[in-house]
Amino acid sequence: MKFTYYGHSCFGVNVAGKNLLFDPFIRGNELAKDIDINTIPADYIFVSHGHEDHIADAFDIAMRTGAAVVSNYEIAIWCHKKGVLKYHPMNHGGQWNFKFGKVKYVCAVHTSSMPDGSYGGNPGGFVVETAEGNFYYSGDTALTMDMQLIPLTCGPLNVALLPIGDNFTMGISDAVLASDFVKCDKIIGLHYDTFGYIKINHEEAKQKFASRGKELRLLTIGETIELS
Ligand code: NI
Ligand code: MN
Repeated sequence: MKFTYYGHSCFGVNVAGKNLLFDPFIRGNELAKDIDINTIPADYIFVSHGHEDHIADAFDIAMRTGAAVVSNYEIAIWCHKKGVLKYHPMNHGGQWNFKFGKVKYVCAVHTSSMPDGSYGGNPGGFVVETAEGNFYYSGDTALTMDMQLIPLTCGPLNVALLPIGDNFTMGISDAVLASDFVKCDKIIGLHYDTFGYIKINHEEAKQKFASRGKELRLLTIGETIELS
């Protein structure tokens, strides 16, 4: 599995010959100004919830690539009504076998209004299981006991992508506990530094995970890493 960071909570994952893109928010992110959204590959676009900083570029990338938007029912239908042809609605606790592997839509504690103010359903995260490895993309969320269901109901995780920026989501200490809950020792940080409210000290964050025997990766925007 190859993970490419596009800033904020946006990641591309190349797995089983498919390109999965999570929560595209690039043009509105000053830190990601060197990323050209017209070069980002996507076969599937996963949207964790309706907030602008997770869905802003989803429509344009879906229209250019023909990617399918995978999200909760309300968001998938909202995208379809705007003109996205391929979409796959899910809801909490449900899973589906895609060509690249199995995806489960899991609980997140957050909110989910759409950029136009319409109802965006409830926010969620995704557990993706493939022949090349498994990962959890939590989306924006608080630390929640529901995370303990993931190791009980899904395969062992190779990596967990968790928000660490605090204020709108979990902060670092809660994210360390979240990684315990999902039984994963390799973490990629999301949702930090983009805005004033969520600026973090990188070394302190890495140290907090390291003191629990875990590795926190904070990728440079545009960087690609291979994980298995
Ligand atoms: Ni949000
Ligand atoms: Mn957010």
